Amino acid sequence: VTEQRDRRIVFGEAVEQYDAQRPGYPPDLVSDVLAYAGVRGPGRPVLELGAGTGKATVAFAARGLDLTCLEPDPRMAAVLTRNCAALPRVHVEITGFEQWSAPREFALLYCAQAWHWLDPRRRWDLTRAALEPGGAVALFWNGNAITDPALHADLAAVDRRHDLEPGRTPHALLAADVPDELERDDTWPGQELAGDPRFTDVTERRYRGPVRRYPTAAYLDLLATMSIYRMLDDAPRAKVLADVAEVVDGHGGAVDLATATDLFLARRVRAV
Ligand SMILES: C[S@@+](CC[C@H](N)C(=O)[O-])C[C@H]1O[C@@H](n2cnc3c(N)ncnc32)[C@H](O)[C@@H]1O
Repeated sequence: VTEQRDRRIVFGEAVEQYDAQRPGYPPDLVSDVLAYAGVRGPGRPVLELGAGTGKATVAFAARGLDLTCLEPDPRMAAVLTRNCAALPRVHVEITGFEQWSAPREFALLYCAQAWHWLDPRRRWDLTRAALEPGGAVALFWNGNAITDPALHADLAAVDRRHDLEPGRTPHALLAADVPDELERDDTWPGQELAGDPRFTDVTERRYRGPVRRYPTAAYLDLLATMSIYRMLDDAPRAKVLADVAEVVDGHGGAVDLATATDLFLARRVRAV
């Protein structure tokens, strides 16, 4: 199985679980991004990279934007199109960012939970080329943290039993350990932006979301949407999910997850 094939199929295999169980993004984040970019409605084009099933798309498009969405996986794009059926200003292109030619310069480019999937050798060049002078780039991610220390410890033992890479599962962090503000070590896209003379006005912000309750079956569906589980073969994936189910059932049959959403903003400098 090649890396390229894995990338194409990884989320589309679990597209309905993805759409049902992944969280959206805070309304305050949408307002802050649009205010930073100076985009207040239609007329100034906006580009979204890796739109998936539209978790961010719907929130941005609801503000009346002219939005072009790139999504290379046809199964994700089909659900995206379904979710945006009532939003006529959303235009979906089934393509990766690296395979696409921008037909114009955009006032804002944003990317939710997908920047790490783009080619690290090309993504900044392509972003700079897609933006108008002074145009804004916004990158953001949801992070999960589990609220119950006892459940956290027992699920960490499951991760160890199945050799899952530490830190990559949604129950890997304890909510009490997540700081309210972004820490310097966490800020790799911010550091890359700060070191790139083509971008300026770098801003970083963390948003705290509500605690989400996942009953056992919903939690297994959430895990099934995550690349660390998707990359396992069917038999080991079934085993680890059965182990998780037994542990969660033993703790009352639900997982409470807190969300922190980290946002990185910058602007294309006008002179370069
Ligand atoms: C974790 S999902 C995020 C989806 C959505 N933005 C969200 O917030 O739920 C990552 C998405 O990036 C897409 N993707 C992967 N490689 C890409 C590329 N080269 N260009 C654009 N999108 C890509 C995947 O198909 C997937 O839908």
